[in-house]
Amino acid sequence: MFSSFRLEGKVAIITGAASGIGEASARLFANNGARVVIADVQDELGQQVVASIGPDRSCYVHCDVRDEKQVEQTVANTLENYGRLDILFSNAGIMGPICGILEMDIGEMDNTMATNVRGAAAAIKHAAKAMVARQTRGSIICTASVAACLGGTGPHAYTTSKHALVGLVRSTASELGMYGIRVNCISPFGVATPLACKIDNLDPTQLEANCCAISNLKGIVLKPHHIADAALFLASDESAFISGHNLVIDGGFTVVNHGGPPNQRSD
Ligand SMILES: NC(=O)c1ccc[n+]([C@@H]2O[C@H](COP(=O)([O-])OP(=O)(O)OC[C@H]3O[C@@H](n4cnc5c(N)ncnc54)[C@H](O)[C@@H]3O)[C@@H](O)[C@H]2O)c1
Repeated sequence: MFSSFRLEGKVAIITGAASGIGEASARLFANNGARVVIADVQDELGQQVVASIGPDRSCYVHCDVRDEKQVEQTVANTLENYGRLDILFSNAGIMGPICGILEMDIGEMDNTMATNVRGAAAAIKHAAKAMVARQTRGSIICTASVAACLGGTGPHAYTTSKHALVGLVRSTASELGMYGIRVNCISPFGVATPLACKIDNLDPTQLEANCCAISNLKGIVLKPHHIADAALFLASDESAFISGHNLVIDGGFTVVNHGGPPNQRSD
C-alpha cells in the first residue's frame, strides 16, 4: 500500500519552478511530503512560491540553467541544506524565436538549445553525480513537449530542442540504470502558462479556447496541475520500473487521426 504522502522524506530540485508547470509541481511535491528546491531566474516570483508553500518545506535558489556553475551550486546547496537529493525535475524552458525557417536568425537558436537542452544536461549531470555518490535510487524527470513528437506544433528551434531532450533522456537513462536512477520525460499538450501564451500574444483564456478547439479529448481543459500529477507519478515509487519513457500528456493528440475514424466522417 502506498503512503498518502507519495514523496515522504524525499528532496526534490525543480528548475523553472517560479511559474506554470514547475510551480504547480512544487506545490504538489511539497503536499506529498517532499522538501522542494525552487530553482529559477525569476527571483521575486520564486520567493513568492516559497512563501506560499512554506519555508519549512521549500527554498528558493537563483539558478540560470544555462550556466553549469549555477546548476552545480544549486545541487551543492541542496545537499548542504537537506542532506540528500532524490528527485530532479528539469523543467525550465523557453519558447525561443517564433518565426519561419525562411526568416530565422540561426544564431537565435543557441539560447533555446542552451536553455532547453544544455541546461537539462547540466542538471542531469550534477543531480546524477550527487545521487550516485550517495547511492540514491533517484528519479530524474525532464519536461519535453508534444513538439518532441510531432513537427508543426511549435517553432523550429523549440521543436528541435524538445526532440533533442527526448534523446538526452533516453541516452542518460541507458547509463544511469546501473545505479538504479530512472530518467523519464513528460510531454505536455498546450497549457496556458506565460511561455505558451507568448506564441500569439494570447491571454490564457484565448489560449485555452484554441487548445480545446484542436484537442482530441473533449470536455477538459489542460491545466498545470494535470502535468504536475504526471511528474508526481514519475517522481514517486509508483513508477519504480519506468525509465527512458516519454509520458505524453496530450489526450491522444499525437497518436490519433484528426480526421476521425472512417465511420464518423461525413465524406
Ligand atoms: N505551457 C505549455 O503549453 C507547454 C507545453 C509543452 C511543454 N512545456 C514545457 O514546460 C516547461 C515549463 O514551462 P511552462 O509552460 O510552465 O512556462 P512558464 O513560463 O510558466 O515557466 C517556465 C519557467 O522556466 C524559467 N526559466 C526560463 N529560462 C530559465 C533559465 N535559463 N534558468 C532557469 N529557469 C529558467 C522561467 O523563469 C519560468 O519560471 C518548459 O520546459 C516548456 O517548454 C510547456
